[in-house]
Amino acid sequence: MRVLVVGGGGREHALCWALQRDLPDATLFAAPGNPGTARHGSNLRIPATAVHDLVAAAVEHKIDLTVVGPEAPLAAGLVDRLRAAGRAVFGPTQAAARLESSKAFAKDVMRRAGVATAASHGFTELPPALAYIARHAVPLVVKASGLAGGKGAVICATRDEAAASARAMLADGRLGDAGREIVIEQFLEGEELSVLALTDGEQVQILPAAQDHKRLGDGDTGPNTGGMGAYCPVSLATEELIERVRREVLVPTLREMAARGTPYQGVLYAGLMIAADGTPYVLEFNCRFGDPEAQALLPVLPPGALGGALAAIATGGWRPERPTLPAARAAVCTVLAARGYPDQPEVGAAIVLPEEPPADALVFHAGTYRDPDGTLRVHGGRVLGVTGLGDTVAEAAARGAALCERISFQGKTWRRDIGWRELQRAGAA
Ligand code: AMP
Ligand code: GLY
Repeated sequence: MRVLVVGGGGREHALCWALQRDLPDATLFAAPGNPGTARHGSNLRIPATAVHDLVAAAVEHKIDLTVVGPEAPLAAGLVDRLRAAGRAVFGPTQAAARLESSKAFAKDVMRRAGVATAASHGFTELPPALAYIARHAVPLVVKASGLAGGKGAVICATRDEAAASARAMLADGRLGDAGREIVIEQFLEGEELSVLALTDGEQVQILPAAQDHKRLGDGDTGPNTGGMGAYCPVSLATEELIERVRREVLVPTLREMAARGTPYQGVLYAGLMIAADGTPYVLEFNCRFGDPEAQALLPVLPPGALGGALAAIATGGWRPERPTLPAARAAVCTVLAARGYPDQPEVGAAIVLPEEPPADALVFHAGTYRDPDGTLRVHGGRVLGVTGLGDTVAEAAARGAALCERISFQGKTWRRDIGWRELQRAGAA
């Protein structure tokens, strides 16, 4: 089997790692990939958003299975184009990917499907948005409807802030096309949880729940980022809660998508807020694996489970053996970021990795490149994902942190408290 992974971040390195483990006879390609994916296969010099070139490469390299990592190519219709070219692909069509690429659309689907989510309203014009803000209690959350790379949601403690955010997006075009439509919603209290499920549009297999850490600094302080770390499994995600998410979120959403003539195939990522009464509210849907969640989640899946499922979903005839996949171990992924991330990451610094990676820890490349001399250098904001493995989250965190200390590059910025909620729960138990 010849497999192409589209994308070039930590998630895609983790996908290549897992696919090589699960499909040992497969030949792997990544586009564009990174120095980490190059260890598992061949990198093709094609950007993840170059839909036309990716389709041509899939045909040329006789790719049997394409796995799409990031949202942008999904929203641009890569899956539709690959299918039209007769290539099997894991991921949602452009129409189905609207669950992520349009928050206004996702809200409409949830409303029709009866999925719990924050009360909200969508706007394309400023005056009615301002009138809505004046009528509603704060805090309010102002969100760009389109893809904004994690910068699209602003939590506003005052009406003035909410009005300023709405104005920045709708009138000043601060987020470009992504902010031409906005959603204003009620602020929800609770604990966040990422629940990802594999689906062929009807059947659902839920992956072990993970928890992301979006803020830059220890103790969940500082600006929002794409994610500074994640761990898995999460004890908050009891079997009972996961079954509620299946019944009340995933199944009704998939039914509604199918009823609209746009069945959803791929990984459906529900970004949830678990309220104090245990109700899972959907904050957002993503149409792909989370990053860094994938770097914690994929390494603890039972060997063989992911590769087989992705191939069967892409080619048809998937018969999941079990409704959920268990976490065989615990994992904590800590992101090593560049100084200045998320606003202005400093690139170029040389990276020194330990010669011999320790057992029970993995290094995933995200924003790295090799210069012509072969030196590994910082290329982007999130540089590496370091995943520690263990029997418990505490053990995994300790192993990951030890490896983080041994990796050096100028400006290395990282959180030392990934998994703190779980450690607190374990301490309290
Ligand atoms: P989103 O892009 O919709 O996932 O929002 C990004 C982040 O903003 C989430 O991970 C939450 O931390 C926060 N957030 C979004 N919507 C809400 C909400 N309605 N209530 C509280 N926090 C929210
Ligand atoms: N870690 C959040 C995301 O992938 O969107």
